[in-house]
Amino acid sequence: METVYYKIKDNRTENTAALEKAGEIIRSGGLVAFPTETVYGLGASALSDTAAKKIYEAKGRPSDNPLIVHISDTAEAEKIAYTSEMYQKLAERFMPGPLTVILPKKDIIPDSVTGGGDTVGIRCPINETARELIRLAGVPIAAPSANSSGKPSPTSALHVKADLNGKIDMIIDGGECDIGVESTVISLCGDALTILRPGAVTEDMLRKVCADVTIDKAVVDPSLAGANPKSPGMKYKHYSPMANVILLDGNSEAFIDYVNRTAGKRDGVFAAVNEKDKFDCTVLTVGDGSDEDIIHQLYAQLRHADDLLLDNVYIKAPATSGEALALYNRLIRAAGGKVIKL
Ligand code: TXA
Ligand code: MG
Repeated sequence: METVYYKIKDNRTENTAALEKAGEIIRSGGLVAFPTETVYGLGASALSDTAAKKIYEAKGRPSDNPLIVHISDTAEAEKIAYTSEMYQKLAERFMPGPLTVILPKKDIIPDSVTGGGDTVGIRCPINETARELIRLAGVPIAAPSANSSGKPSPTSALHVKADLNGKIDMIIDGGECDIGVESTVISLCGDALTILRPGAVTEDMLRKVCADVTIDKAVVDPSLAGANPKSPGMKYKHYSPMANVILLDGNSEAFIDYVNRTAGKRDGVFAAVNEKDKFDCTVLTVGDGSDEDIIHQLYAQLRHADDLLLDNVYIKAPATSGEALALYNRLIRAAGGKVIKL
């Protein structure tokens, strides 16, 4: 199939016309990749069993791994799930934004969207293109990240093109994603809340709304996910480039020393632009080296490592709290669960 490519422009009328066309594709059961503030999504009508199945096929995704349903207005959640007072509070504070809330699903959502389960993840993105697309489609949009299953999530339309060109109907290019990692995924049980996947909405932020916040143990230790994790995505090898990711836990001096002693010609390292000259191997720059900058560059640089055919990529282990937890969670998975203590 030929994939139509549309780049968002300064011209509002043209954009709306293209998004109307994209909405029509979604309504009639096709697949459209679109930008969000976190990563690009691969969208299909969340009300159609066959459309949802096409997503699994295009991505090569295991069919028991549920899709997140995207809405343009938090009140729409009522139509697809049984909401609660806690949902309303969270929605008021964090939506639209990078938060996905898992709720008991209503019958209107087909089983293929939820991987056969009786809950559904709901997210209202803040990215304007995403929201206009959902509004114009007139249906909620089921969308996982728009990468081939197992590859790093796409943070630009070119990443989507590299993985899915010819397999989907349309790609909407809205530039680089603002955040760079996927949304925070939480499940609600009465007044208690569990973080299943950390993201830009952090534990501390959630505590301002909910007194009882727990972080699932598998967030920092993938080996604890078990055969039936709360979030099926936890058990799959995720966020992985072909290169081995080697996570090193120590201070900057020890990190630089270890990498320069160990790395070979076909190895690379994540480093801040101003630390570039301290390394003997290939440097993959990650802005000023802050957690926020590393998060922003993470997936693009893991893909770049593969373009360069690197064998190993050395990365300094981030903290396991605050916004760094989202980074740690992706890296520990990319590193196959291992951290080397320096
Ligand atoms: O930021 C994001 O969330 C992006 C953009 C496109 O919105 N989407 C995304 O979707 O990351 P995906 O499918 O790549 O990751 C969704 C994760 C998976 O690990 C899945 O197992 C989990 O959320 N999930 C979705 N629905 C769930 C449910 N009903 N119960 C438990 N886990 C669920
Ligand atoms: Mg994904």
